[in-house]
Amino acid sequence: MASPFLVLGLFAIICSVAFASDPSPLQDFCVKDSNSTVLVNGFVCKDPKLVQADDFFYRGLDIPGNTSNPVGSRVTLIDVERISGLNTLGISLARVDYVPGGLNPLHTHPRATEIMTLIQGTLQVGFVTSNPENRLITKVLHEGDVFVFPRGLIHFQWNIGHGNALAISSLSSQNPGINTVANVVFGSQPDISADILVKAFQMDKNVVLDLQSKF
Ligand code: GLV
Ligand code: MN
Repeated sequence: MASPFLVLGLFAIICSVAFASDPSPLQDFCVKDSNSTVLVNGFVCKDPKLVQADDFFYRGLDIPGNTSNPVGSRVTLIDVERISGLNTLGISLARVDYVPGGLNPLHTHPRATEIMTLIQGTLQVGFVTSNPENRLITKVLHEGDVFVFPRGLIHFQWNIGHGNALAISSLSSQNPGINTVANVVFGSQPDISADILVKAFQMDKNVVLDLQSKF
């Protein structure tokens, strides 16, 4: 019979793989060195002796994002590109603004779970589980409500209130990534062949071409 230590060791290894998000830091911090041309997973560390408070600082999240766009929402993402001290820390932040009727359209974060707090307004939010269930989990949020979007799952937020809405999200990666479904499918560069999309979505070719021209 396998020793309990072996079993525990295997369990620890399986857990660390199954629950992996951004790799854990091996030092207090590793501020992104913007001058380095070395390519690693994340960014090379700046000399810790040269690190300043401003490497951990961003000013301006009180300013609403520009919602003058066809979906009427704007995500302002504070990731490692905006705060270089986030490098290796596995966390980022977003401000999301919505006009009445504004939609943060169907998207996924390939590298992060998102936890959202609604500061102002009323949102309908939701995500869809993987195949084969494809279950829609949805909820109406009011001010002060908190909702979680699990990593990798397609989700949305829709402002169903009469005024503007404002939400703040934390994301479990320094670089969560945003894949907006419509842009990925109908706006790839170069185009996915319309014949592939006709087959995949069982849609008329003219509809596919129209969507490709929009995205
Ligand atoms: C940001 O990506 C969000 O869903 O709020
Ligand atoms: Mn999101």
